[in-house]
Amino acid sequence: MEIFIRKETKEDYDQIREVIKSAFKAMKANEENDNEFNEWTLAEKIRKSEYYINDLSLVAVKNGTVVGHIMFTPLKIKGDVQNYESLDLAPVSVHVDFQNQGIGKLLVQSGIDRAKALGYKSLIVMGHPKYYQAFGFKLASNWKIGLDTEFNSKYLFALELVEGGLDGVSGIVEYSPPFYNENGELI
Ligand SMILES: CC(C)(COP(=O)(O)OP(=O)(O)OC[C@H]1O[C@@H](n2cnc3c(N)ncnc32)[C@H](O)[C@@H]1OP(=O)(O)O)[C@@H](O)C(=O)NCCC(=O)NCCS
Repeated sequence: MEIFIRKETKEDYDQIREVIKSAFKAMKANEENDNEFNEWTLAEKIRKSEYYINDLSLVAVKNGTVVGHIMFTPLKIKGDVQNYESLDLAPVSVHVDFQNQGIGKLLVQSGIDRAKALGYKSLIVMGHPKYYQAFGFKLASNWKIGLDTEFNSKYLFALELVEGGLDGVSGIVEYSPPFYNENGELI
């Protein structure tokens, strides 16, 4: 199977929309959880913001067709005395017809490699433990990094992109503004 990972371009947007829609529709159908919020709207919101990182907005292409997509955005870890810069992985999607063929893994690994090359020191993701531990992610609570002061999320993971990339880092995760609604709630 020949899959290429490359930066997204404007010409990909329509296909990316279909990929994200198909991936999350399938997931929500499985979970019987249909939020009003749509992940494809999030991707579009990120693109229009100053937090968009084109170098880390990637597509997986098979036979000339976009079959997967991933985005990374800046993230802050707000400590007691100072804030730390990190990077968030979200959303990631593989078209429902192409899932479980290793495309998601290629997208995540390519994103990790590119983020390292760009000099980012750490990465945060909210996701399934088994999926992300395979890349070396560990529970963010190991560093006392969390969504609140309890630091007890089972789904929040962190990865050091350089040795000691999270040394001395702890605090509460603040996503970039596109991840919050007009009431300041995480969407
Ligand atoms: C999650 C997702 C990106 C994975 O991509 P993929 O190409 O299907 O996955 P891969 O082929 O790389 O990896 C397959 C492995 O992931 C596991 N997996 C697939 N979807 C998963 C999910 N939602 N949660 C946990 N594990 C998942 C499979 O069980 C398989 O495990 P194995 O390697 O132990 O057999 C894709 O399934 C998807 O788009 N899901 C819907 C959207 C979503 O949940 N995005 C993540 C939240 S932002």
